[in-house]
Amino acid sequence: SNKVLISPSILSADFAALGQAVRDIDAAGADMIHIDVMDGHYVPNLTIGPDVVKALRPHSDKPFDVHLMISPTELLVPLFVAAGADYITVHPDAGPHLHRTLQSIRAAGVKAGIVLNPGAPVEQVDPVIDLCDQIMIMSVNPGYGGQSFIPSQLEKIAAVRAKIDAHVARGGQDILLQVDGGVNPVTAKACIAAGATSLVAGSAVFKGAGTYAENIAALRGDTA
Ligand code: DX5
Ligand code: ZN
Repeated sequence: SNKVLISPSILSADFAALGQAVRDIDAAGADMIHIDVMDGHYVPNLTIGPDVVKALRPHSDKPFDVHLMISPTELLVPLFVAAGADYITVHPDAGPHLHRTLQSIRAAGVKAGIVLNPGAPVEQVDPVIDLCDQIMIMSVNPGYGGQSFIPSQLEKIAAVRAKIDAHVARGGQDILLQVDGGVNPVTAKACIAAGATSLVAGSAVFKGAGTYAENIAALRGDTA
């Protein structure tokens, strides 16, 4: 069966013990490590910079899934590449030149992604689909962990699923379809049904009822 990828967001971890958090979610079966980078400008919060990503790199061999909520984006891409990012996902409206930013991420040997905010139209995917290794749908407004899933985004997940399937049918590269925000075992099921292949989860992993391994398994829909 097609196993959905789980990318726990360390935004919900103890920021005084991030290395331990990364080791723990790695051992608990995380497929990727989601790192939320916020600049206090594109979003109303400040989080993690490239030096912290670099310091975390020796703590896991899993792909670092770096979500850039910064504007402008392009200037800082080389620093996150050098820090050890495996995926760099950017917001089309963070500017200034989305297409060139994606090209520069890929030219550096890193997987490139775009992320659509809840208010963004699905058509933002079209002009850059050839350059995407991952497309992420935000199911909350970016800036904070612990918000509630916005159900209207399920339709957008399904619409992007159809775009990716059509792209692959035309001979295009496969693309991960990731969902970020308010993902818990219940909303995860709806996301997977709509066609998601990767789920980000902060609260549900770090503040869920079980161990990290149990919380990750619950998101995949595995029952104990
Ligand atoms: C929000 C971040 C998310 C956030 C998810 O801007 O992009 O990755 O950490 O947190 P939860 O899973 O708690 O909604
Ligand atoms: Zn994120």
